[in-house]
Parts: sequence; C-alpha cells; structure tokens
Amino acid sequence: RSPPQLREVAGIPLQATTVDNWSQIQNFEAKPNDLLICTYPKSGDYGTRGEQDLGLLSQHGLLTSGTTWIQEIVDMIEQNGDVEKCQRAIIQHRHPFIEWARPPQPSGVEKAKAMPSPRTLRTHLPIQLLPPSFWENNCKFLYVARNAKDCMVSYYHFQRMNQMLPDPGTWEEYFESFTNGKVGWGSWFDHVKGWWEMKDRYQILFLFYEAIKKDPKHEIQKVMRFMGKNLDETVLDKIVQETSFEKMKENPMTNRSTVSKSILDQSISPFMRKGTVGDWKNHFTVAQNERFDKIYRKKMEGTSINFCMEL
Ligand code: A3P
Repeated sequence: RSPPQLREVAGIPLQATTVDNWSQIQNFEAKPNDLLICTYPKSGDYGTRGEQDLGLLSQHGLLTSGTTWIQEIVDMIEQNGDVEKCQRAIIQHRHPFIEWARPPQPSGVEKAKAMPSPRTLRTHLPIQLLPPSFWENNCKFLYVARNAKDCMVSYYHFQRMNQMLPDPGTWEEYFESFTNGKVGWGSWFDHVKGWWEMKDRYQILFLFYEAIKKDPKHEIQKVMRFMGKNLDETVLDKIVQETSFEKMKENPMTNRSTVSKSILDQSISPFMRKGTVGDWKNHFTVAQNERFDKIYRKKMEGTSINFCMEL
C-alpha cells in the first residue's frame, strides 16, 4: 500500500490534501438553512489512484463516505421515499463532504458552493475544527454516534479492505492506534464528547447507531421532524425497509460492489460488513476489554453520554 498521507491540524490527523486546502475549508460560508451530517469516521481516503477510480469513487460518494446509513435515511426523506429519485440524487450529488479535497477534482467546498439551497452537507470534523460559519449561522446538525468498541472493530475491518487507507496492522496494534486517537480524524472520545457537549447550545439532533438499529422507525421519524418534513406512515415504513442493512447490502448504490477491487477489496471484508451491535465481543479479548473500559472511564469522565453496547 502507498504510505498514509496524514498530517495534523491542531493535533488531529487529517488527510494531507485536506490540510493543503485548510484555509478554503475554514473560510467555508455556511448558510442558515444548511443541514450538516456529522459523524466520527470509519472511512477516508489517503492515497491517490487513477482519475477513473477517483471519478468512480466520487460518483459513489466513497471519497466522502462515512455514515452510509444516515445518508441513505436523509436522502430517502429528502426524496419523499422515492427510491428512483433517491438513486438519481446519489449519482448527481452525494451530500458534499466539506473537508474533502483531491485536486483536480472539485473540492467539497466548491461542490457545496455550486449546490442549490437548502443544502445537506457532511463532515467528520471534530467541533474545534469546524468552519466557524456553521456556528455563526446557527445551522442544523445531525450527529450520529456509535459505541466506541463496535466503531473500532468496524474501522479496523474497513482499513483492512480499503487499499487507500493505511494498513491497520494487527488487531492489537490497531487497538493502540484507535485508543490513542492515532487514526484519521483523531480520537473517538474527543469527537463524541465534543459534539455531545454542544448539543444543547445549538440545533443538534444527536442520534445513536444502536437506537436506530433497535427502533428504526422511531429514530427516522425524529430525523424527519428535524428536517421539517412530514411524511405519512406508508412512506415512513418504506424508508425503514429500504434503509435496512439487508436491503442496503443488496443495493449496488450502497454496497459499493461497483468500486474496483484495487480500492475496496471486498474479498477481505465486505463494505456492508455485519451491521450489528455487539460485534466487539468477537474481537476484544477479556484483557483488552478491561483495559478499554478503564481508558473509557477516564477519557469520558464527567460526560453524561451513555452508550448501549449490545441489544
Ligand atoms: P460494520 O462494519 O460493523 O458492519 P460507515 O458508513 O460510517 O462507513 O459505517 C459503516 C458501518 O455501518 C458498517 O458497520 C456497516 O455495516 C454499518 N451500516 C451501514 N448501513 C447500515 C444499515 N442500514 N444498518 C445497520 N448498519 C449499517
């Protein structure tokens, strides 16, 4: 694999191309009716490949991916549950990822500028690195958090199969990198804590992966209301169905099956891998689990956030 190109901004490892474009990103002009989908990542792109691959990745939103599930939910709500319209929207423009930069492709900032309002945009940035205009314009933020242990497992397998990401090393090595925040977009702990602490000061709908898994209709309804939409029961039920793991695993627009094996090697691990809560139990040793719980308590001390670790 090509060596990872990560550089730090204020101690947070980011893609080198993002750092090169940092002033454009920081000067991004948010609009009051922007909706920003925010997540801690389980994805990124660190290497460069051919134009064709970049075009393909861009088309499928992979270069800007993360949060495939919530994107699909938001898309389906925006398109009133119309699957075809939703697929067309995906091809035309996936919600731009504001810190994405890979010249000569248009950057995320440029893509966002070219979009009609109201815009739905995405980011993996922690609060301290968010372009200030999002706060100044009191935009709406949709944050999705996933419990740290499953997130670590998912990120590990994603780095194994994504040939554009640094090799994660062994599980033991990855455990260290993740807990020390030495992965793209930095520490899970700081990211989640930061956004959680902002949630009562700004218009933030804070969602949990585990809650969506447990009661998708209820959580999708929250998203719908937050987006100012009012869809009827039949449409809601359809969105629940279409955004289920099983459906998305079969859908070429979401399972990335059309992306070249030289980028995503799904024989190593499928892009739509398991989609469950509690897979960490198949990875963490008892000793790792005890150690992680200790680290977790220390790093999350003082926050009121509570994660469900199994369903
Ligand atoms: P696993 O690796 O645990 O299976 P991202 O989209 O941010 O890269 O996150 C990918 C994770 O979300 C993967 O987790 C993937 O299976 C899961 N996921 C994607 N769509 C899902 C869905 N509809 N339901 C449940 N999990 C989903």
